[in-house]
Amino acid sequence: MDHELKQITVAEFLYKEKQLWGFENPARALYQTIREYVENALDATDLYGILPNVTVIIEQDEKDKSICTVTVEDNGIGIPPQKIAEALGKPLVTSKFKIRQSRGQFGLGAKAVTVYALSTTGSPIEAYSSPLDSERVYYVKFSIDLSTNEPAIYALGSWRKSTKWHGTRIRARIRCNWSYARSRILKYFEMLAIVTPYADIVFIEPDGTIHHYPRIVEKMPRPPKEVKPHPASLEKGELQMLLKRTTARTIKEFLISTFQRVGEKSALNVLKLAGIDPSKPPQSLTDEEIERLHKALRSYKFPAPSSEALAPIGAELIEAGLKAILKPEFVVAVTRKPRMHSGGHPFIVEVGIAYGGAIEPREQPLLLRYANRIPLIYDEKADVAWKVLEEFNWKHYGVNFPAPLVVLTHICSTKIPWKVGSKEAVAEREEIKEELHLALQEAARKLRHYLIEKRREEELREKISTFLRYIPEVAQSIATILGEDGVTPDKVQRLLLDTLRRRMKGKELQVFEQQVKNLSKVKIEA
Ligand SMILES: Nc1ncnc2c1ncn2[C@@H]1O[C@H](COP(=O)(O)OP(=O)(O)OP(=O)(O)O)[C@@H](O)[C@H]1O
Ligand SMILES: [Mg+2]
Repeated sequence: MDHELKQITVAEFLYKEKQLWGFENPARALYQTIREYVENALDATDLYGILPNVTVIIEQDEKDKSICTVTVEDNGIGIPPQKIAEALGKPLVTSKFKIRQSRGQFGLGAKAVTVYALSTTGSPIEAYSSPLDSERVYYVKFSIDLSTNEPAIYALGSWRKSTKWHGTRIRARIRCNWSYARSRILKYFEMLAIVTPYADIVFIEPDGTIHHYPRIVEKMPRPPKEVKPHPASLEKGELQMLLKRTTARTIKEFLISTFQRVGEKSALNVLKLAGIDPSKPPQSLTDEEIERLHKALRSYKFPAPSSEALAPIGAELIEAGLKAILKPEFVVAVTRKPRMHSGGHPFIVEVGIAYGGAIEPREQPLLLRYANRIPLIYDEKADVAWKVLEEFNWKHYGVNFPAPLVVLTHICSTKIPWKVGSKEAVAEREEIKEELHLALQEAARKLRHYLIEKRREEELREKISTFLRYIPEVAQSIATILGEDGVTPDKVQRLLLDTLRRRMKGKELQVFEQQVKNLSKVKIEA
C-alpha cells in the first residue's frame, strides 16, 4: 500500500481545482475574472459610504485573440501599500472576516484570478492603489508562488499623485473566450446596474464599444454595520477557537463580551443549562464542557440577531433600477423583515416584479437572482430562488403565459449559504425558501391588483368608445329630423354628452373625458 502523503498549498488547490471557483472554461473564466474584480471594487466603495465609479476594460491581444487583459478601476478606499500583494496574492487573506454583509466572503476571489492568469498566460498581475488619505499611488507587479502559498513580487513602485484619485486599479492577462462570454458579461452589467443604481459603471469591449450605466440615484443604502456574532450562529469549532483566543477572565465574561444579545442574566442561564461554573476561566473548559456549552447556546432562546449588519437594497431603489433598465409598465418591490437561517445568521429577502412595457413576453418569468447585491447568472436551476419560482402558481395572480414578466430576488445575509465557491447558487434553507415565497406572494398580489385594474380600464375604454363612436352620427340625425333653426349637430352632441356625463363618476368619468377630447367634432351644415 502506498502511504506517501503530501500537503498541497491552498494556492496549488486553487490551481488544480479551477472549476470550483468558476474558472472551468475560457469563457466562464473571463466572466469570473470580471466578477471578482468588480465585486471587490464595489465592496471597496459602497461598504464605506462612497458612491462607486467603476471602469472595466477588456483588451484582446493583437496576435492571439484568445488572450485578454482585463482592467478594473474603482474609486474605493484603496489598499495600504504593504498589504497589496498579500491581499491579492495570498490565498484566504481577506478584510471581510467581519460579521456584516459584503459581496466578498472567502478571501479567495482575487487570488483565484491571480492563479488562473499564472496557469494560462504565466503573466503576473499589476495593481495600482492609492488609499483614501494617501498622497501617493503604489504599484505592485506580483503573482503567487504555488509551493509557498506566498505572493511572488516582480516589481514595486510608488509616485506622488497628480490627481485626487483614490482607489485601486488591477490588471490581469488571462486566456479566455471573449465572443462566447460576451452575452453573459453584458447581462451581468445590466443586472448589476439594476441593483446598484447609485453606481456609475463603464464597460469597454475589446472593439472599443462603450457601455455606460450611469448613476441614476444619488442616494445609497446605508452601509452595513459590523456586529458581534449571535450566540446561536456558531459551529463548535468556531466556539473552540474563540475560547482559545479570548482575553476574558471568566466564562461568563467571555459570553457577555463576545456575543451580541447576551447579558448578565442570559449568560448565567446558559451556563446553568450547560452545568458550567460561571467563574471558570474560558481556556480551562474541557472538550465535554465545550460540547455542552455549544448545545446550550444553540437551544437557549436568545433575541433574534441584529439586522444592522445587513444592507438590503430597499424597495424604492429596486423599483428605480428595474424601471430604468427594463422600462416596464408596472413595477413593484417588497423588502421583508429580517429573519435567521441556520441557527443565527440574519438575512433579509427582497423581491421585485416588473411587468409589460419593453419586456418581451416569455413562456415563464425571467428570473434575475441576486445575493448580497451580486448578480447570479450561472447555475440558475440549482438556486433556491428558482425552486420557489418553479412552485409558484401565477394563475392565482391573473398572469397567463406567455407574459412579459420579470422577477427579481435578492437575499442578503451576513452569511450566504453558497452552494460552491464560485458563488452562483444559494443553497436551499427552509427559512430562506419560505421568505422568498412570502415576498413573491406579496409582490404578486400587487401585480394582480394592477392587472385587474388594467383589465377593468380596458373594458371601460372599449365600452365608452363604443358609445362615443355613434354620437356624432346620432347627433347629426337628430338635428336633421328636428330641422329647427339653431339646433345644430354640435349642440345636440353636447347635450348627449352632458346626459352621459351626468351618469358617470370616478374612473369611468375620467376615461370618458379623455375620449371626449379626442372625439372628432361634427362638421355638418345645420
Ligand atoms: N478593489 C479593491 N479595493 C480595496 N481592497 C481590495 C480590492 N480588491 C481586493 N481588496 C482587498 O483584498 C481582499 C481580498 O480580496 P478577495 O477577492 O481575494 O477576497 P474577498 O473579496 O475578501 O472574498 P471573496 O473570495 O469572497 O471574493 C479583500 O478582502 C479586500 O480587503
Ligand atoms: Mg472578492
